[in-house]
Order: sequence, then structure tokens, then C-alpha cells
Amino acid sequence: MSEFLNLNRTGDKIPLVGFGTARIAQEDTADVVYTAIKSGYRLIDGALLYKNETEVGHGIKRAIDEGIVKREELFVISKLWTSFHKKDDVRRSFDVTLKNLGLDYIDLYLMHFPFATEYVDPRHPNPGFFNKDNKFVLQRIPVHETWRAMEILVDAGLVRNIGISNFNVQSVLDLLTYARITPAVLEIELHPYLWQERLVNWVKSQGIEIIAYASFGNTVFDAVPPATAHVPSLMTHPTVAKIAQKHNRNNGQILLSFAAQQNIIVIPKSVQESRMKTNLDLFSYKLDADDIEQLKSLNINARFNDLVPNTFGLELPIFE
Ligand SMILES: NC(=O)c1ccc[n+]([C@@H]2O[C@H](COP(=O)([O-])OP(=O)(O)OC[C@H]3O[C@@H](n4cnc5c(N)ncnc54)[C@H](OP(=O)(O)O)[C@@H]3O)[C@@H](O)[C@H]2O)c1
Repeated sequence: MSEFLNLNRTGDKIPLVGFGTARIAQEDTADVVYTAIKSGYRLIDGALLYKNETEVGHGIKRAIDEGIVKREELFVISKLWTSFHKKDDVRRSFDVTLKNLGLDYIDLYLMHFPFATEYVDPRHPNPGFFNKDNKFVLQRIPVHETWRAMEILVDAGLVRNIGISNFNVQSVLDLLTYARITPAVLEIELHPYLWQERLVNWVKSQGIEIIAYASFGNTVFDAVPPATAHVPSLMTHPTVAKIAQKHNRNNGQILLSFAAQQNIIVIPKSVQESRMKTNLDLFSYKLDADDIEQLKSLNINARFNDLVPNTFGLELPIFE
């Protein structure tokens, strides 16, 4: 089983297991990212939104300076936030990201969400869905304007691959009607409770790879939509625990390998070195068809990272 995929158009190798950088405290991020690279991670998933890009860059620089890794061996991802979808703002915001990271190109740049919000300065310390007056204001900027500006970043040699995040099938279908550069990747919430097999199969049939986020499901969120509040934690679910015991692994590994062994990229985040290591060890055992069927049977279409008032503070059913 291969431990990387080749992206469409460039053929670039993307590891099936990467490292997520959301919700790592700014002051810890440089050390955490350095330790992740030292532990073997070669894919780093970041975003302007996570407010720690500069520190991610410091961690990468230290690993390169110490000869642990070469720049070309790393696969660095960042994401365009919703307040920079206007064509000139795409480049402006991208330049901030590149400077934050201290790099001269990135491997993959994603549109973080498929809608545009009011402009805020990209150096603003708290990028989010809300404007400077703390209001949620959508902008009339079509995705095709933003995508064209992303394509120009590729033409300029600043980004090797471009992709999308949190798009549903209808949004992908529309994008494919005009995209000069087909998205390399779609990054979405994906775990046994929200398996989305039809979406995954169709998107992959278009040559677009899937990155799964929140592979541990509801375990990681402080607040989940009320409709899913009753759902038991995936991390202690007896079905997952039984499969973990059978393979002599922990539940986290089973949830990650469930995706990775089906050629879906995973990007777990951990600040703990021991978990970094086990989360990376997903191919030294093999889930069998029965394990996969049991995990698939947990699907209840439960989305935890939804744009609802008690999580993101707004009601915007973009996944409907
Ligand atoms: N595109 C998007 O809209 C989007 C949205 C959300 C996330 N993401 C990306 O996806 C990445 C991963 O998602 P996530 O950060 O939400 O959650 P995650 O990686 O699924 O889970 C992280 C949490 O699980 C704990 N953890 C990690 N490994 C564990 C293990 N083996 N056993 C038990 N607990 C474990 C971590 O705690 P410790 O740190 O204490 O180990 C942390 O609290 C993010 O970092 C980000 O890069 C993208």
C-alpha cells in the first residue's frame, strides 16, 4: 500500500498522513511543528485562520536548518480566508501567508470556504467570519473570480497546486465548468459518523483527492451542533475499541487508518510527541473488509464542524 498519492496535473506526491496545525497555541506552535517534522511528518496543514502561520514557519525553518528535512521534501498547505476572495485580495493575502511562513512557494493553497465575507486586513490578529464591527456580511464575489486569482498564483510559480475546502458536490460541479486548473484536493470533515461515500467516490472520480479533517469526529470539538449533542464519542466507541484491540492499536489509529488505508489523506493534530508518533503509524497493519464494513456502518451523517450559532456563531447551511 502506498503511503502517498500523486496529485493531478503536477504529479506531486502528497503523503497520506499529514499534520494539522489548528488550535495549537501560538507560543507552542514552532516547537510542536518542529517535533512533528522530527517525528516524520512531511505534510503540514495550516491556514491564515489558525493565527500561528509565523510560528509554523519557524518550526519548518528550524527543521530545515538542522538538516532534518529539505524544503522540497515537505508538503506545505495553507488556506485563503473568506474575507480575501476579491481577485486583488487573493494575492495580497497570499503574500502575507508566504511571508508568515518564510517560504518562497507553497505546495497547496486551498479556498477555505466557498463563500466570501467582508474584507478585513489580512494582518488583523483575529481573522474570522466577522468584520471589524463584529458583523457577518457576505460579499457578492463569485467563486470563479477567486479561483481565477488562485490559478494566477500557480502561473506565477508561487503555488504548486490549488484546491478547495468545505465545498459540496454542487459547488464542485460548478467550479469544474470553468476551472482552467482542476482542483488537486477537496478538504472536508470526514469520519465514520460522516463518511460521505458518494461524495468521496464522485470527487475522486474527477481526479480530485480528499483530505479528511476531524478524523476523530466529535471528540475534538468544544461545542457541537445541538442536533448531534447526544452522539457518543467516536474515540471511546465500542466498535472502534474492538477493532483497535484486534490490531493491537489505539482508537485514534483505527479512526485515522480507516481513511488513510482507503487513500484518503488525514491530518491529525497533536501537541504530544507520543501521539504524533502513533498517529503516523497507520500502515504497519491492515484493516480487513469486515473492519471497514463495521466502521462504515457507524455513519449517521453527523456533521460537527457546521456553521451553526453555537459553534461558529452564525447560521449558514452551506452543506445542505
Ligand atoms: N479545512 C477546514 O475547514 C478545517 C477544519 C478543521 C480542521 N482542519 C485541519 O484539520 C486538522 C485536524 O483537525 P482537528 O485539529 O480539528 O482535529 P483532530 O486532529 O482530528 O484532533 C485533534 C485533537 O485530538 C487529540 N488527539 C490527537 N491524537 C489523538 C490520539 N491518538 N488519541 C486521542 N486524542 C488525540 C488532540 O489532543 P492533543 O493535542 O492533546 O494530543 C487534539 O485535541 C486541523 O489541525 C487543521 O489543520 C481543517
